[in-house]
Amino acid sequence: MKILICGKGGSGKSTLTALLAEYYGKDGKKVMVVDTDESNLGLHRFLGVNHPTDLMDQMGGKQELLGKMMSAMKSSEGIMNLQLFDQEWKLQDIPPACIAENGTVRLLSIGKIHHAGEGCACPMGFVAKQFLKNLKLLDNEMVIIDTEAGLEHFGRGVEEGADAVLMVLDPSYESVLLAKKAADMAASLSLPMYFVLNKVTQEISTQMRKDLPADKIIGEIPVDQNLLSAGLAGKEITGSSQSVMPVIQNIIAGIKSS
Ligand SMILES: Nc1ncnc2c1ncn2[C@@H]1O[C@H](COP(=O)(O)OP(=O)(O)O)[C@@H](O)[C@H]1O
Ligand SMILES: [Mg+2]
Repeated sequence: MKILICGKGGSGKSTLTALLAEYYGKDGKKVMVVDTDESNLGLHRFLGVNHPTDLMDQMGGKQELLGKMMSAMKSSEGIMNLQLFDQEWKLQDIPPACIAENGTVRLLSIGKIHHAGEGCACPMGFVAKQFLKNLKLLDNEMVIIDTEAGLEHFGRGVEEGADAVLMVLDPSYESVLLAKKAADMAASLSLPMYFVLNKVTQEISTQMRKDLPADKIIGEIPVDQNLLSAGLAGKEITGSSQSVMPVIQNIIAGIKSS
């Protein structure tokens, strides 16, 4: 299964990505975290690994791909026929240099912004979309996709390669608005969509629930001191926050049961 994690900036996408990866890994799954956020620099720290070579760089770099995209756009074939990956692309086909590993969890990064003025991040979105869409998983494999803040990934079509979307909401009206919009977009793609309320108290949860469909909410994570400290220090989350693991277990059960 491929689960895409989305939400507004700072809501807790990367945190939840790392927690889900930890849980699935301990549960015996072969987990691959796919980092599609071209701006966030810290996910590998949460997972306790060094940053691997970006897939984009391994494939020749952003400028080279941009060139290919431009020529495809000008050709009669069109960009939709520019195939970067085999139809039967598997996790084991990923170049080893692009994978960082920590016990049961592995990380692949699509690409990052390196320089001012280097151009838009469209090639990253193009690679992410095709990579995920063509990726065929074995029964025991799980892919968790961390995304950039907001809705751009929907625009880029990254969701087309996912089996479910999990949206993280922090206590803000902006998160609620974004959740409604994202839910509409997921519905238009016939994708199951779930909400997780993060950094909430009972009181905040009650307030947020007034504006959200109850059946979509599959978990609530409180403010957790260990997660806060790990985030502040840029340290590994894995193993640091056992108190939230029962919530993660419920979230996974919520995805499974629907
Ligand atoms: N439940 C939580 N309790 C305490 N701190 C949290 C919690 N969830 C996330 N954080 C902190 O909030 C910050 C933003 O989280 P992050 O996962 O990086 O957000 P995003 O990926 O959505 O931008 C980080 O410093 C992280 O440690
Ligand atoms: Mg993030």
